[in-house]
Amino acid sequence: MRILSGYRATGKIHIGNLFGSLINWTKLQDKYECFFEIADWHALTTGYNNTRELKKYIVEMTKDWLACGISETKSTIFVQSSVKEHAELYLLFSMIVPVPWLERNPTLKEQIRDLHLQGKVNYGLLGYPVLQAADILIYKAEKVPVGEDQLAHLELSREIARRFNSLFSPIFPEPEPMLTASPRIPGIDGRKMSKSLGNSILVEDDEETIREKIMSAYTDPEKIYKGDKGHPDKSGCVVFAYHKIVSENWEGIKEDCISGKLGCVDCKKGASRNMAELLGPYRERRLNIKDERVCEILEDGSKKAQVFASQTLEEVRKAMNLW
Ligand code: TRP
Repeated sequence: MRILSGYRATGKIHIGNLFGSLINWTKLQDKYECFFEIADWHALTTGYNNTRELKKYIVEMTKDWLACGISETKSTIFVQSSVKEHAELYLLFSMIVPVPWLERNPTLKEQIRDLHLQGKVNYGLLGYPVLQAADILIYKAEKVPVGEDQLAHLELSREIARRFNSLFSPIFPEPEPMLTASPRIPGIDGRKMSKSLGNSILVEDDEETIREKIMSAYTDPEKIYKGDKGHPDKSGCVVFAYHKIVSENWEGIKEDCISGKLGCVDCKKGASRNMAELLGPYRERRLNIKDERVCEILEDGSKKAQVFASQTLEEVRKAMNLW
């Protein structure tokens, strides 16, 4: 079975990405044929006006992936814009996708609200899911490991596959999402961890940075003094959420917080120590990966991907009676 997933090239990855999907991807590599894509064209759908850092983001993200255990020998790691066939398939799909399918995309609606885009939606942003469908279908991927936030996009990929198959020729499998249970990892301010909110702990953060971030994290507002009883589960305490991921004895920590035996300062110090210990090996590996090596890996991966993509395009052109 073939699998494809990807990230938009928007910078370094955080522990939400690590525990939410990357660790899962590393396991999939042993069971399936995997394609992992750095979606740099998708990054332009909202970031078109600032492309200065784009190349750097691609390199940084690849380093993070490799450090987390994505392997260039087991999987195909590639850059979207290096495989131009994606753009051709995107264009051909655009002929058969009704605009209302795209206008009702809930992710687009959220973006319009959050980024204040009323009346200012670009053609590329509207077409985001069409490009994503091309990414997936060009490799005839059957499963797509993604988070809940991508389900609507995947539904559209399936609709596009169905429409193409019935209009021309049954070339594309309908890709299914592959959801894995992953812990919810809040940002240090208690909101969803997100690069743009500046509340992330990064895979590359060193011990000092991790400590500074966790010491300022949101905790139970009703636990003010050390002896106060805490409510780790109900208060939205971020530090407790981290302990659950990084501390083996999190149940004991929970008891001591509830009883008032453990104060927030010590609790945060413990979480920082364990987080730094857990992330240490990733950080070490990351520091040892050279830019030149990253470029080689991406070049090789993109070539491998292109072999596959160009075969699909041959079939598509034939099915559509193109020149
Ligand atoms: N839209 C995905 C995200 O925001 C990134 C992405 C682009 C993707 N192409 C893809 C994910 C294909 C899965 C499959 O994270």
